[in-house]
Amino acid sequence: MLTEIGSGREYIEKGARLIKAGEIVAFPTETVYGLGADAFNPQAVDKIFKAKGRPSDNPLIVHLCGFENLGAVVSCIPDIAEKLYRAFCPGPLTMVMKKSKAVPDVVTAGLSTVGVRFPSHPAAIELIKLSTAIAAPSANLSKHVSPTTARHVYEDLGGKIPLIIDGGSSQVGIESTIIDISGESPVILRPGTITLEMINSVCNAVNNSGEVKVAIAPGMKYLHYSPRCDCVIGDDIPSIIRMYQDSVAKGTKTVILAKEDTIKQLAGLNVWSLGSKGEDVARRLYALLREGEKAFGLIIVESLGDEGIFYSVMNRVNKAVKRDVK
Ligand code: TXA
Ligand code: MG
Repeated sequence: MLTEIGSGREYIEKGARLIKAGEIVAFPTETVYGLGADAFNPQAVDKIFKAKGRPSDNPLIVHLCGFENLGAVVSCIPDIAEKLYRAFCPGPLTMVMKKSKAVPDVVTAGLSTVGVRFPSHPAAIELIKLSTAIAAPSANLSKHVSPTTARHVYEDLGGKIPLIIDGGSSQVGIESTIIDISGESPVILRPGTITLEMINSVCNAVNNSGEVKVAIAPGMKYLHYSPRCDCVIGDDIPSIIRMYQDSVAKGTKTVILAKEDTIKQLAGLNVWSLGSKGEDVARRLYALLREGEKAFGLIIVESLGDEGIFYSVMNRVNKAVKRDVK
């Protein structure tokens, strides 16, 4: 199959036509690129799983525009949903709620809940407006690093999908925060750039006694976000230097991803900057992992601590370094 790549109104309209006809289309969001299908068409949604090689027990997020459209996909809208919507949507937040009968089981992997997100990228909003609710995971091959550019999508899915809508580089760069609000008290299932602190400042309701709950989302058990070369975390400067020198001595081409401030302490080594602030690092991480896997045998990522967005970035880095997750 020929995969077209294009930007602007013409390609968004083409994408909407394809989605309404039961095809799958890659599209930009502010977090990462998504691979979308009509959320109410089970055959179309099935094509997503096939194209990605995604296990069928890993549910998809439904992308909507406008709070008024939520009733089409969920059966019960808790009060907290409107508070979170007003504070953070459209934007990088996914809310898990009880699903309505209209959402096919293939979307939710048979769960009684559905994850719903209102993306803020203008091309995503237009695409949804011109088509329907869009079920979409990240537009990478299963287990690979999520794509933050149209080129990343093409590298994974070129020849397997008819269209990639190009909306530039994703501004957020890591996947949305997922919060489960279907039960008694809300639980964060996947950390993102909307942090626990931000959520708590709006509604003091997240169920955590000092610790954010993660790894409950069905997909979190899978190996994720992994570059196709070895990847390790360096806890401090001496251990980064030691790992680098050991690796180079063995003849392995090696690169270090480090914060801007750290780079001067790694003079003479091959280092790429992750930037300074949490937002910069989130925006750059996946592109650098994808770039690194092409040219290097080992990527050493500096440990970034657990403050704010760095916590969420390290959640992804920790998954990238794991080799033996079930
Ligand atoms: O930012 C994002 O969320 C991106 C863009 C494209 O919107 N999407 C994304 O989708 O990251 P995906 O499929 O790569 O990750 C979705 C995660 C998976 O870990 C899945 O298990 C979890 O969301 N999930 C989806 N529906 C769920 C549900 N009903 N209950 C619990 N977890 C759910
Ligand atoms: Mg994904």
